Amino acid sequence: MAKHEVDDMTRQPGTAQWTYPIAPLLPAVIIRRAGEADLAGLMKVEEDCFGSERFNPEVVHAFLVRDNAFVLVGVEEGEFVGSAMALYSDEVSEGKIASIAVLRRCRGQGIGAELLRECENIFRAHNLSRYSLEVETVNEPAIALYTSRGYHRKGIIDDFYGLGRHAYCMEKMAGIRKGDSVKPS
Ligand SMILES: CC(C)(COP(=O)(O)OP(=O)(O)OC[C@H]1O[C@@H](n2cnc3c(N)ncnc32)[C@H](O)[C@@H]1OP(=O)(O)O)[C@@H](O)C(=O)NCCC(=O)NCCS
Repeated sequence: MAKHEVDDMTRQPGTAQWTYPIAPLLPAVIIRRAGEADLAGLMKVEEDCFGSERFNPEVVHAFLVRDNAFVLVGVEEGEFVGSAMALYSDEVSEGKIASIAVLRRCRGQGIGAELLRECENIFRAHNLSRYSLEVETVNEPAIALYTSRGYHRKGIIDDFYGLGRHAYCMEKMAGIRKGDSVKPS
């Protein structure tokens, strides 16, 4: 998701509803819904994963408090090791992954996949028909993550992340699980 898309989120904060229990992941990593008290820890994950391109705290806060958004955090021994931010619209029946991030030192252990799975569980609880996201065309690990979990490339947006930095729009229809065959576009 590009920064301009989330600017509006800071204008209409609502009261978040934490409705869905989060299942335990790996023995040492728990994924749970994040709340406002987690903002500082989430910003550390943003810094580690995105550096100068991180969301600013106001944007992360908006994801935490808006009714149609949520944030998940992966916690290992009290430390945040990953996060996911998402939005959804019941009206258009779509869930959108805005960001999935795992600390550099914790990658390759299945945490990103679990964060994605829990986002989809929440989308599924809302009976959303389709899940979508944007990802930079050169972000091979993220593209591999999404493709392996049933997302397909629906289109491309030129200069989405800045001049010369394009994004794939990826989409998955509800009901497609890991291992399902997805026709490349
Ligand atoms: C993308 C990211 C979240 C993946 O997290 P992760 O915890 O390392 O991923 P996982 O260990 O759960 O791997 C899940 C799948 O991703 C793919 N994958 C992960 N890392 C990969 C790599 N370096 N190369 C190729 N594929 C990779 C694999 O398909 C893997 O599936 P498998 O384990 O069934 O083979 C992580 O690399 C990250 O935080 N990147 C920086 C932030 C970012 O770019 N986020 C995406 C923004 S849209």
